Amino acid sequence: MKLVVNGQPHEVDAPADMPLLWVLRDLVGLTGTKFGCGMAQCGACTVHLDGAPIRSCITPASAAADKSITTIEGLSKDGAHPVQRAWQEVDVVQCGYCQSGQIMVAAALLKTTPQPTDAEIDAAMSGNLCRCGTYQRIRTAVHRAAELTKESGHVA
Ligand code: FES
Ligand code: FES
Repeated sequence: MKLVVNGQPHEVDAPADMPLLWVLRDLVGLTGTKFGCGMAQCGACTVHLDGAPIRSCITPASAAADKSITTIEGLSKDGAHPVQRAWQEVDVVQCGYCQSGQIMVAAALLKTTPQPTDAEIDAAMSGNLCRCGTYQRIRTAVHRAAELTKESGHVA
């Protein structure tokens, strides 16, 4: 199967129904995307498929063929994406396990809603669980990322 991940073509030997998460982690070697529940319940495995957030634990790899897949590793080369910068400024992370999924959802939100309200942030992020309870800092950081995106003219 041929996949395009973070702009790079990959050819992987995988059954069509293998979850995209397994392909990304075990065959492509990108381990930034995390396995949480494996049942679409936590958001830890979120990646972008053609720019939209999806749960890679329940997405068969075949559904991603011929589409553009972006993982946390592909969000920026050097951590300079506004969401990543905001996350660092606000010091969002505690254990970190859920955070690549949180960041990918936040980045997708800002593409469609550049200046989200608290309610829009809560609605977009509500499916992403954080056992460390970083929700308040996530909300603050999404607002900060919106400011940074505006200031820098970055296309999220
Ligand atoms: S691991 Fe995919 S939603 Fe939890
Ligand atoms: S930072 Fe620990 S689970 Fe979210």
